[in-house]
Amino acid sequence: MPSDSGPRERILVVDDEENVLHFLSRVLEDEGYAVETARRAEEVRSRDWEAPLDLAIIDLRLQPGEDGIALLQVIRERAPDTSAILMTAYGSIESAVAAMRAGAYDYVTKPFRAEEILKVVTKALEQRRLQREVWRLRREVERRYSFANLIGKSPAMQELFHQIEQVAVSRGTVLISGESGTGKELVAKAIHYNSLRRSAPFVVIDCAAIPETLQESELFGHAKGAFTGAVTAKRGLFEEADGGTLFLDEVGELRPPTQATLLRVLQDGTFRRVGDTRTLRVDVRVIAATNKDLAEGIRTGRFREDLYYRLKVVPIHLPPLRERREDIPLLADHFLQRSTARKHSEIHRLTPEALDLLLRYTWPGNVRELENTIERALLFCEGEAIGPTHLPAEIRDRAETIRVGLPSDSLCLREALDQMTRDTERGLIRRALDRTRGNRTQAARLLGISRRALLYKLKGMTEKDQS
Ligand SMILES: Nc1ncnc2c1ncn2[C@@H]1O[C@H](COP(=O)(O)OP(=O)(O)OP(=O)(O)O)[C@@H](O)[C@H]1O
Ligand SMILES: [Mg+2]
Repeated sequence: MPSDSGPRERILVVDDEENVLHFLSRVLEDEGYAVETARRAEEVRSRDWEAPLDLAIIDLRLQPGEDGIALLQVIRERAPDTSAILMTAYGSIESAVAAMRAGAYDYVTKPFRAEEILKVVTKALEQRRLQREVWRLRREVERRYSFANLIGKSPAMQELFHQIEQVAVSRGTVLISGESGTGKELVAKAIHYNSLRRSAPFVVIDCAAIPETLQESELFGHAKGAFTGAVTAKRGLFEEADGGTLFLDEVGELRPPTQATLLRVLQDGTFRRVGDTRTLRVDVRVIAATNKDLAEGIRTGRFREDLYYRLKVVPIHLPPLRERREDIPLLADHFLQRSTARKHSEIHRLTPEALDLLLRYTWPGNVRELENTIERALLFCEGEAIGPTHLPAEIRDRAETIRVGLPSDSLCLREALDQMTRDTERGLIRRALDRTRGNRTQAARLLGISRRALLYKLKGMTEKDQS
């Protein structure tokens, strides 16, 4: 039933048979829908696409050389959230399957009666309304729980957004700590792009990626002939970042002489290019990051204590993902939407079982690992929902050990314990084999049993599986 409020819902009917167009127009208009008709694909292509379209009802076989599925794709490109119903001739199941694959909501087999088509139309429009509502809510949630490109609803992340806003307006040096993949670089960018420096450069250097001997010339530049290979003079990254922000990733990897020079720049903004006598002055905000414990570096003498305190004027800590699990559904959804938008593919969702697994996993690689997991799952996923089978073994395994909680409905304690032991053992064996890519000798070593014992257990597993 068309909604009472707002404009009438608009339906486009495409068929090369005049009597079908006539019949459908009458039936649909009687129900209060606005109906447009077209006999040829060409008419659809040249339609005024500014005008809204809620649903298209398309004949699968149009004129020779034109087919409904190709036409559906044309419509999807111009008006992606249009719902579609395809009409097929009796018996063409393959085309019906192809139609559903191409994203049609449903199909009807000709000839059909008025009530039949009206039922499908009502359902298609209803589903589209729900879908739009989901999109609207999703956008709202994203807006509420995001800052710059960062997503998070956990108290830790909400606090972080607040902190970034405050830090952005100051020029104090920031030290971001957190495990690999927790979003340190993203936070650094958020600070820069929310500061008054946003139109000046944001320059990144990964201190772990440059050879130690080149650290100083990379950062501060060098004079011509300063060392072998320095054929011309070169500006360093501090000069490149003048007026903007320099992000020193893995700052713990700087060698002691570079640490000393960095300390001086932070103190008075001046430095010299390697092998040069002129003193240069720059206005650069430094944001440093580390996934190591710098305090430990100080104890072992690898990192200067005075530099540490100079860097950490504003300390920001990013908690690992396993300590803010409430962010997992939001992040997973964000990565899903992003990849599907990029590939113009079907809308994807996670089944509750898959989400459950994601929530239980420990995420040693943090947000980056979650991002990769989703992208990978989408590669394997042919339908519209990502289920447990699309997730990597280490994520599935972990839940397996939990699921064996109550194995059968028998109340016999010994039986239950036996079965749990067996299930846990199998889970571990499978995981060990996964990790060693099927190498049984190595797997046995990981498990702390002899190869013979492993072979024996494997034999038991396959026999059981066969029975
Ligand atoms: N809160 C978040 N919201 C959205 N995306 C995030 C978030 N945190 C991290 N990411 C994404 O996860 C990936 C890793 O983030 P980033 O590179 O900033 O981590 P990192 O802490 O610098 O990691 P590493 O120590 O390995 O360099 C990026 O693709 C980033 O976009
Ligand atoms: Mg990084």
